[in-house]
Amino acid sequence: MSDTDKKVYIETLGCQMNKSDSERILGILSHFGYIPTNDENEADFCIVNTCSIRQLSEDKAYSKLGVWGKMKKEKPLKIGICGCVAQQEGGKLLKRFPYLDLVFGTQNIYELPKLINFNSRICAVRDIPVKEDIFNIIRTKGLNAWLPIIEGCNNFCSYCVVPYTRGRERSREPEVIINEAKNILKQGFREITLLGQNVDSYGKDLVNKPTLAYLLREIDALEGDFRIRFTTSYPTDITDELIETVKNSKKICECFHIPMQSGSDRVLKAMNRRYDRKTYGEIVKKIRDNIEDVTITSDFIAGFPSETREEFEMTLSAFDEFQLDYSNTAAYSPRPKTPAAKWVDKFVDENEKKERLAVLNEKVKEMSLKSNKKYVGREMEVLVESFKNGKFEGRTRNNKVVHFDSDYAKIGDFINVEINRASTWCLFGSGKK
Ligand code: SAH
Ligand code: SF4
Ligand code: F3S
Repeated sequence: MSDTDKKVYIETLGCQMNKSDSERILGILSHFGYIPTNDENEADFCIVNTCSIRQLSEDKAYSKLGVWGKMKKEKPLKIGICGCVAQQEGGKLLKRFPYLDLVFGTQNIYELPKLINFNSRICAVRDIPVKEDIFNIIRTKGLNAWLPIIEGCNNFCSYCVVPYTRGRERSREPEVIINEAKNILKQGFREITLLGQNVDSYGKDLVNKPTLAYLLREIDALEGDFRIRFTTSYPTDITDELIETVKNSKKICECFHIPMQSGSDRVLKAMNRRYDRKTYGEIVKKIRDNIEDVTITSDFIAGFPSETREEFEMTLSAFDEFQLDYSNTAAYSPRPKTPAAKWVDKFVDENEKKERLAVLNEKVKEMSLKSNKKYVGREMEVLVESFKNGKFEGRTRNNKVVHFDSDYAKIGDFINVEINRASTWCLFGSGKK
């Protein structure tokens, strides 16, 4: 039986890497007659692309499966699960969710053509990655396109599940990436974001050892009006070559996402991070000294096992010392296979953890407002992304959201905006002609 004209719905949880994987999954399925839909109720095939970074993320995946399990009682429906929870749990999921048809891991996406033709329930979760193949990619509409350059992680931070769910670092060949960038630009996207769990490790596993900086320069040299971003950076892997490249390029945006995780040296050591507070500060300083108006963002964890109140306060003071512009935050969540999850006797009390997270979030708000205020009275280049409630919305090169009025702006334009007000999460202004 052919699968012509069937509808597939993907619910994507987690990070940008998952968003990018979903675009590839939809692309592969399009070769087999599956058309994407945004309405799960009309789908013949529902897939949840999952995240396992915290227990809460994992639980979201299971509740989605529960909803679809009920739907399946009313009509024929194929249900699949992929992503980091699928990689982590594998075949156990088929036992736990009797209505589940397909489990495939983060490294099995290119095996899908084989898997979808099976009539029995199936689990494909391997440690050896299935080689990338040429298929359509159905990108999310908009101005930004995700472009994965390296997958996996070799760092094994003691709290983190990613090395277990994404495997070891694997870089894509530069020619493949550059070709994909060219296609993205042909399709009219105005922004390319290079993705990786650690983009700075790019190329270390390839024969000619191409660097992230090299890749950025090659993409920067492509024809057209567009922006380039990259994420995520590991503090001590940021090279002088990278900083120089961002400084000297026209299209690479002035943003570094450099998760610090904790402001305390003792906690950083227990987290198995390869830097201390002083080194982190030196890197931030070097970037700020070289790149004007740069935005530096971070990730922090509150309540890591054994973190004392004083150590938590060192995290708060790191915000001030390094003038961080923004940070993602999370309460520590024990994850399967990770060393920190075994330190049960050192877990921080749940209420204390919640309280620390709330304090941390207040700090982020304070820093974000402070950072935004720097730009009041300035003229900034904005990429116009949408028009809502009578106002245009876009982002500056350094990733500030701007709401503005204009008689001339069109979605997809680069327009100069005079900034006249700042709030915690965005800037306001008026567009220049
Ligand atoms: N590769 C990036 C981060 C990837 S995971 C880096 O090394 O910085 C995204 C963020 O999730 C991490 O930066 C961390 O802050 C958070 N995170 C990871 N594991 C976590 C856990 N077990 N509990 C709470 N937050 C966690
Ligand atoms: Fe996780 Fe650490 Fe790897 Fe980031 S560097 S993905 S936090 S193990
Ligand atoms: Fe989550 Fe996996 Fe990304 S655990 S953050 S979806 S790499």
